[in-house]
Amino acid sequence: MKVLGIESSCDETAAAIVEDGERLLSNIVASSMDLHIQYGGVVPEIAARSHIEVINGVIQQALDEASCSWNDIDAIAVTYGAGLGGSLLIGVLTARTLAITHDKPLYAINHVEGHVYANYLTSLGESPALSDYKLPERQPDFPVLALIVSGGHSQLTLFRDHFDYTLLGQTQDDAVGEAFDKVAKIIGLPYPGGPSVGKKALEGDAHAYPFPKAKMTGKYDFSFSGIKTAVLRTAQDAIGEDFSFPSKDIPSRLDEVQKANIAASFQRIAIQTVVDKALIAYEEFSPKTVIIAGGVAASPELRRQLAERLPISISYTDPRLCTDNGAMIATLGCFHVKYGRPAADPYTLDIKPNLSM
Ligand code: KG4
Ligand code: ZN
Repeated sequence: MKVLGIESSCDETAAAIVEDGERLLSNIVASSMDLHIQYGGVVPEIAARSHIEVINGVIQQALDEASCSWNDIDAIAVTYGAGLGGSLLIGVLTARTLAITHDKPLYAINHVEGHVYANYLTSLGESPALSDYKLPERQPDFPVLALIVSGGHSQLTLFRDHFDYTLLGQTQDDAVGEAFDKVAKIIGLPYPGGPSVGKKALEGDAHAYPFPKAKMTGKYDFSFSGIKTAVLRTAQDAIGEDFSFPSKDIPSRLDEVQKANIAASFQRIAIQTVVDKALIAYEEFSPKTVIIAGGVAASPELRRQLAERLPISISYTDPRLCTDNGAMIATLGCFHVKYGRPAADPYTLDIKPNLSM
């Protein structure tokens, strides 16, 4: 069974084909990130316009790379939430149109659940474009503890089975990736902040600044707005200014050592916050598998701290499947088909920008 997955919730226009929920046949991602860099974050209108321009080509490329025609496709899966309204709309309207014109069942996929399913891909098709992908050797065993850390989400979830999970906790304000992006902006590093802060942190002292860890009432909840503000105050203080100093003028006044020390100290604490909760959940629920999903899963510091503290080894999927992609959507789509989940009505499926897990 082959499913075409379409993803357009943020700044990536992505399509992929997955077979039987385990075999990746193609994975095409067109990002409009370059257009957003000058603004230091994703501009929703620009993202939506880019989706319109490239989505048909991206889908055709996904079919070509998988050597598939429409006859080979059994179903279409599309992200209908959560995400930016205008961006989601392009993906959903495209998927609806294709489902109607090619007479295929359509499945509505929750983007955050989709991130988890990137970890179910364990083999590759024939396409040479996929030859250097590194995938886990086997699919996760239930119960699965899933740590979902991206630019839009920070969540800890326990999966007892497919479509049977409990949300243990989540961020009460910013997502961890978002905190990286905002800290990058404060100290003048490029967007996206995860990789740029991570790189700068390599030159810095991770104990230079004692940033606070948020104390939450919910055992598994996160908060990152406090540390973000602490970074701003620390940066203002480091250049001898007070809290009224405008953040846009900070980068030009910080020297490279100060930037590196702030990056390293922030990264250490932000990642520790996430790992602390994962460890508590691991001890409480004794999962058979722990998986890390979302863009921040690519962080070497997260991987290092998890390896150091968690008594179970984690198989990571390829970084190209951690950030937004169509393969994760197609994979979860395969499980919707396999488990007889209801298909969506292609004439009425609506977007849900605030969809939660
Ligand atoms: O999953 P994703 O592509 O999009 C969302 O669904 O949000 O995640 C994007 C986030 C950004 O905040 C980015 O800074 C972060 O993932 N990210 C990283 C790394 N690569 C991307 N964070 C830390 N280290 C990385 N190497
Ligand atoms: Zn995402």
